[in-house]
Amino acid sequence: MTLYGVGLGPGDADLVTVRGRRVLEDADVVYSPGRLSRSVATEHVPEERIGDLDFPMTRDEDELRRAWKDAAAEIAPRAREGTAAFVTLGDPNVYSTFGHLRRTLAAFHPEVDLAVVPGVSAVTAFATALGVEITAGSRLALREADGGVAPTGPDRMLLFKVTDAPATHEGLAEAGYEVTYGRRLFMEQGETVVTDDPTELDERDYYTLAYAEKPESRVEQATDAFLELTDDAGVVTDGGGRNLARQERSESELCGDEVRRD
Ligand SMILES: C[S@@+](CC[C@H](N)C(=O)[O-])C[C@H]1O[C@@H](n2cnc3c(N)ncnc32)[C@H](O)[C@@H]1O
Repeated sequence: MTLYGVGLGPGDADLVTVRGRRVLEDADVVYSPGRLSRSVATEHVPEERIGDLDFPMTRDEDELRRAWKDAAAEIAPRAREGTAAFVTLGDPNVYSTFGHLRRTLAAFHPEVDLAVVPGVSAVTAFATALGVEITAGSRLALREADGGVAPTGPDRMLLFKVTDAPATHEGLAEAGYEVTYGRRLFMEQGETVVTDDPTELDERDYYTLAYAEKPESRVEQATDAFLELTDDAGVVTDGGGRNLARQERSESELCGDEVRRD
């Protein structure tokens, strides 16, 4: 039959898509590669239908290949006889373990049919969580920043794997970026943190990303003209696209919505 790669979204159980949930409910077995994805999956699937896989914490490529070969050997017969799912956080095709499984199955078990259910990726969820708007006409690059590295160049970057925020921040600030960090966004497990201050994130947590923007790179939008009006209405704006919450409040006011002032 089929193996479904199902994206679970960033970590809140109710951000699994309707299609993803339906596949999980119908699958005979749901494999999860880690603790976090397992905890999201068990919100939708009874424990007895979860199949755990054992992956070593290693960068040794031989060891990793062995682990994926073993995982594929476990999954393939279940997917041949019935319906199996393999879950990942976010989207299965974005920086995800699912790619290893797909390649291993293609090499050793090509008879297994694959289908993918996309998930809400951190690549898009970050914007809402951080109050960022990626406006039409702007460019956004995705980079990795593990171990304190600070990639530079593009006007706007989304950085994954920010494991040493203070060190990464130093390099980004020096290159003229304004940076906002997000940790465990839309994630039930652990504390969600959104901050401009990297010292709040000095403890390492793999589920940390950063959005870095050159302030001068903002692309003017036709509706920016409305922001001048909001000044008259007494709402302070910084003219930037970064404070979406404030901008939305201004726009609601212009539309006649009642706005609470704290
Ligand atoms: C290997 S990538 C997995 C991406 C995932 N497949 C997706 O589509 O979102 C892991 C990196 O994504 C980022 N990430 C994923 N989910 C996150 C979340 N809920 N909150 C903050 N960062 C997250 C972190 O930077 C983490 O190091």
